[in-house]
Amino acid sequence: MSILVTGATGAVGRHLVTTLLARGAAVRALSRKPDDAGLPAGVEVVAGDLADAATLGPEVFAGVDRAFVFPAEGVEAFVAAATARGVRRFTVLSSLAAAKEFRRDHGSASQLHHTAVESAVTSRAGAWTILRPGTFAGNLLSWAWQIRSGAPIRAPYLASAQAPIHEYDIAEAAAETLLSDDHLGTAIPLTGPQSLTRAEQVAIIGEALGMEIPLVEITPAEFRAETGRFVPEPVLKMLLDYWHDTLTVPDVPRPVTAVTGRPGRTLAQWVADHRADFTAG
Ligand SMILES: NC(=O)c1ccc[n+]([C@@H]2O[C@H](COP(=O)([O-])OP(=O)(O)OC[C@H]3O[C@@H](n4cnc5c(N)ncnc54)[C@H](OP(=O)(O)O)[C@@H]3O)[C@@H](O)[C@H]2O)c1
Repeated sequence: MSILVTGATGAVGRHLVTTLLARGAAVRALSRKPDDAGLPAGVEVVAGDLADAATLGPEVFAGVDRAFVFPAEGVEAFVAAATARGVRRFTVLSSLAAAKEFRRDHGSASQLHHTAVESAVTSRAGAWTILRPGTFAGNLLSWAWQIRSGAPIRAPYLASAQAPIHEYDIAEAAAETLLSDDHLGTAIPLTGPQSLTRAEQVAIIGEALGMEIPLVEITPAEFRAETGRFVPEPVLKMLLDYWHDTLTVPDVPRPVTAVTGRPGRTLAQWVADHRADFTAG
């Protein structure tokens, strides 16, 4: 039997494919653009859109008994097709927002979306595991162009502290939940191993790259004015609420160790793995 990985060309999915192959699993990957997937040899790549049932024919699910669910908009179409065609077990990429641990999460864009994705699976499937990561280290790539160009990073709430998680740790947790029965029926919060202020995060990136990164604290109103054209308002609000709250209540690490048996990767390791993204080229 194969494991079907959706979102397989993404940050989490790509490492999940590699991890599953290394652990000896048969892997099929779903992509809207299979010819451009660039996945390793040994993976069968099939075409399909998670939100479009017409693209999810029997060839996608033949011989598949478990699947990793990437939380695309409209993924209910995929879950319905998968369960109808005999996929019996799912690991879902959700978000810590869906746990509604904080007031800011209730009704946030992320909570509403990921709660709906979780329900799409738990209402249809008997066997599932939900992964609820907090903020991805990959979000820091939004600073990559400033760092590449030498422009100062302009950011609010520099003293707020978050625990960004490496996408490889999410992928390895996903692999574990797909291969072992230990986490069935559970929703697992996951973060990086260290709670770091935003100023510390910039310092770690600079240290790992061997450069001084100029950093300017701006007000939330200035941030809104500077980024409002590019970031939808519900996302902007979510970010500002998160940074505001974590000034006084820093993220508490929720280590992946409980799932993977290994310590989570540090932010310095994440920067080393993304060096090329931050350096001119
Ligand atoms: N950023 C955070 O802090 C955070 C925190 C918690 C949870 N999350 C969740 O994690 C997700 C990001 O994960 P990631 O970084 O691995 O994603 P990513 O790098 O953006 O990749 C997403 C992949 O999903 C595939 N995809 C998207 N829509 C699809 C569709 N309709 N049908 C088929 N495939 C589709 C795309 O593959 P193809 O183009 O090949 O089809 C794409 O490569 C977010 O969207 C969010 O739901 C994020």
